[in-house]
Amino acid sequence: MSKNFKIAVLPGDGIGPEVIGESMKVLDAISEVFHCTFEFKYGLVGADAIFKTGNPLPDETLELCKESDAVLFGAIGDPSFDNNPDAKVRPEQGLLKLRKELGLFANIRPLKTYASLMDKSPLKHEIMNGTDIQIFRELVSGIYFGEKYTDEEGQYAYDVCKYSREEIAPIVHMAFKEAQKRRKRLTLIDKANVLDTSRLWRKVSKEIAAEYPDVELDFMFVDNAAMQLILNPKQFDVIVTENMFGDIISDEASVIGGSIGLLPSASIGNENAMFEPIHGSYPQAKGKGIANPIASILSTAMMLDYLGLDEAASKLRSSVEFAIDNKYVTIDLNAQQPYSTGEVGSFIADHIKFSEKSYYNFENVKIGKSTIV
Ligand code: IPM
Ligand code: MG
Repeated sequence: MSKNFKIAVLPGDGIGPEVIGESMKVLDAISEVFHCTFEFKYGLVGADAIFKTGNPLPDETLELCKESDAVLFGAIGDPSFDNNPDAKVRPEQGLLKLRKELGLFANIRPLKTYASLMDKSPLKHEIMNGTDIQIFRELVSGIYFGEKYTDEEGQYAYDVCKYSREEIAPIVHMAFKEAQKRRKRLTLIDKANVLDTSRLWRKVSKEIAAEYPDVELDFMFVDNAAMQLILNPKQFDVIVTENMFGDIISDEASVIGGSIGLLPSASIGNENAMFEPIHGSYPQAKGKGIANPIASILSTAMMLDYLGLDEAASKLRSSVEFAIDNKYVTIDLNAQQPYSTGEVGSFIADHIKFSEKSYYNFENVKIGKSTIV
């Protein structure tokens, strides 16, 4: 039986359009092999939307996202805004509003390491090898969405961090359920020695823990967690944390595997879901064809999981692994013989369609390259 999915595609800024193009290429291959169709509709967001409409999240984009089965998001951000603290409208506002309006309260960032990339990690082999962490970051509250204020003279400002039990409980449940499927260990990262909001997170998490007796819940202060992540990342299984701590530690965690260009994410709500690479817009690389498309492609795998296309998701992941193991990757992971963004996407799409046969194509490409050199 063929299934048809409506996908909102929001390329955004910088390298966003390039990497999302590769996700769509891969989805075309998936639709051929797994007999489903993806209907893509584009929406404007971020700096791109500001330049074209003055609004970082036009209403049409929000509507499109709401009526789609899932949203694929590229990246957001532009140096012309980053370097201007006085800018009234900022690209990031588009992303934050989208998360809020779509109710995407749980941001899931899986960190997996690949043995073939051990040399790329800033950590020693024995420390990074085998690291496998799922980060659950709360995404629609906390200091990101509390009241903000700057006085007229620009001499005084504040951002309020607020949480309610209703905002904490759903993501904590989600994280416990995930831990049950894995190594049964959940770590709440907080700053409960200083912050009231953190103390509330601890209280709510402890209560919820009673419903998951098979999972061991522990607590870690965020400053210690930042250190533990690089000293001994294997101690972590599932992490749950508030919005800003999650933003920071997930960037830290992302380099353990060797490149931030590998890390996907899913933002899940009760009615909507959005999938985006965790890297930013990387404006220096825009249009050069050097951006790593794997984070975006693996975000697409998370989308396939969400849509219930399990077999397609696992095929996609094994094709990505095949590309990584054979060093068919971009310059961040293979400086000696780098492939372009488009070549990596095509290689993965090809492997989805032809599996072993693609291996021979790969051999040919390798030979072709070496004869040119
Ligand atoms: C992320 C990004 C965003 C965030 C920015 C672009 C607003 O860093 O998704 O991690 O801080 O949430
Ligand atoms: Mg971030």
